[in-house]
Amino acid sequence: MTDAVVARVDAASPSRPRFAALPPLSLYVHIPWCLRKCPYCDFNSHEAKGDVPEAAYVDALMADLEFALPSIWGRRVVSIFIGGGTPSLFSAAAIDRMLGAIRARVPVAPDAEITLEANPGTFERDRFEGFRAAGVNRLSLGIQSFEPDHLRSLGRVHDDSEARAAGEAALAIFGNVNFDLMYALPRQTVGQAQADVAAALAFGPPHLSFYQLTLEPNTLFHRHPPPLPDEDAAADIEEAVHAMLADAGYGHYETSAHARASRECRHNLNYWRFGDYLGIGAGAHSKLSFPDRIVREVRYKQPRQYIERAANGAPVMENAEVTRDDVGFEFMLNALRLTDGVPATLFAERTGHPLALVAHALELASARGLVDSDPSFIRPTALGRRFLNDLQALFLTGLGEQARATPLVRLDPARDGH
Ligand SMILES: C[S@@+](CC[C@H](N)C(=O)[O-])C[C@H]1O[C@@H](n2cnc3c(N)ncnc32)[C@H](O)[C@@H]1O
Ligand code: SF4
Repeated sequence: MTDAVVARVDAASPSRPRFAALPPLSLYVHIPWCLRKCPYCDFNSHEAKGDVPEAAYVDALMADLEFALPSIWGRRVVSIFIGGGTPSLFSAAAIDRMLGAIRARVPVAPDAEITLEANPGTFERDRFEGFRAAGVNRLSLGIQSFEPDHLRSLGRVHDDSEARAAGEAALAIFGNVNFDLMYALPRQTVGQAQADVAAALAFGPPHLSFYQLTLEPNTLFHRHPPPLPDEDAAADIEEAVHAMLADAGYGHYETSAHARASRECRHNLNYWRFGDYLGIGAGAHSKLSFPDRIVREVRYKQPRQYIERAANGAPVMENAEVTRDDVGFEFMLNALRLTDGVPATLFAERTGHPLALVAHALELASARGLVDSDPSFIRPTALGRRFLNDLQALFLTGLGEQARATPLVRLDPARDGH
């Protein structure tokens, strides 16, 4: 009787996904304050005027997590990413209390990767040691550049010697470290970008993220653009430094990510493989799968409003189901960033829909030489990686024909959106 009802419901709703098993689940925690707002940054980050209310914020995060528990009931968290903003503004005691409270509420895998983002301007040895003792086992350091003039032109709160001191301590204390570097900086030459990468390589971090500086709407740089290298000059810089990283033994495994063997960021890999994530904290995004649907959520963005709403058990500002029309594009937006792509079977596993949903767009992409013709993998070719935005656009429902008629234009490579 029950089976018959289920079968009728399924037959009546072919647009709903069906999952044999739910994807791996990660946890993202957003800390929304920085010492100062950088002129290029469009993250949900706010200048800390005076002390940050860390105790009230950790309380809000825990209220938020309790609110979210029914959505992830019985599931284990495989990675945690504490991002921002500048999470290293928080004291080690606050991060310790937060991680303890998370573990008390959600099962965390014993080998979970736990990353914290740090700004060298907040570096203190004791603080970094305290983060490690609290259970953070990976540090992501926002170096951006080692060149004093570039750090100044980017409005960074730290100079190059603080960046070096933080890098050295991070490697000694955590071992598992990422450096964020940006390129195509104001008036930057190929030689200067190479010097930045050489300085980073001298530390031997297991992971390097390398982002092209982009002018984002609603930033100071967008209103008053600095003299950035043109498209050709930026491409020259990119080519030169990618070659240096490859020579130094770093695998270029994702658009902006380079890692030594087995040191890829597991948390970000889960995003790119269309895994699930619960995002708690101001403005955090979630993508959660249920047996018959995929849901996206966004938390309230303003820290004060978020703290109030979370305390009242209502931290979510927006939520929406991912429709059958959108899910193919959303999957490809992530998976095609990976140099090795993903097994074709992952599409059905993670979207709950058959691969046939995107077969036409895949054929189109293959015919244009943008994806590999091997049907057992969904993998971008070198051309597909170069024209990634055009490749991803082929999977926008209804835009296939339009995209086919459009000549390829190289757009800025996408960067992590956290
Ligand atoms: C949340 S921040 C990292 C931690 C810390 N807030 C910091 O800046 O040191 C994430 C990274 O995104 C990159 N990023 C931010 N805005 C960018 C932009 N407009 N273009 C390219 N990369 C950007 C920077 O490399 C930055 O380190
Ligand atoms: S780049 Fe980092 S430090 Fe600068 S405003 Fe953005 S989040 Fe804050």
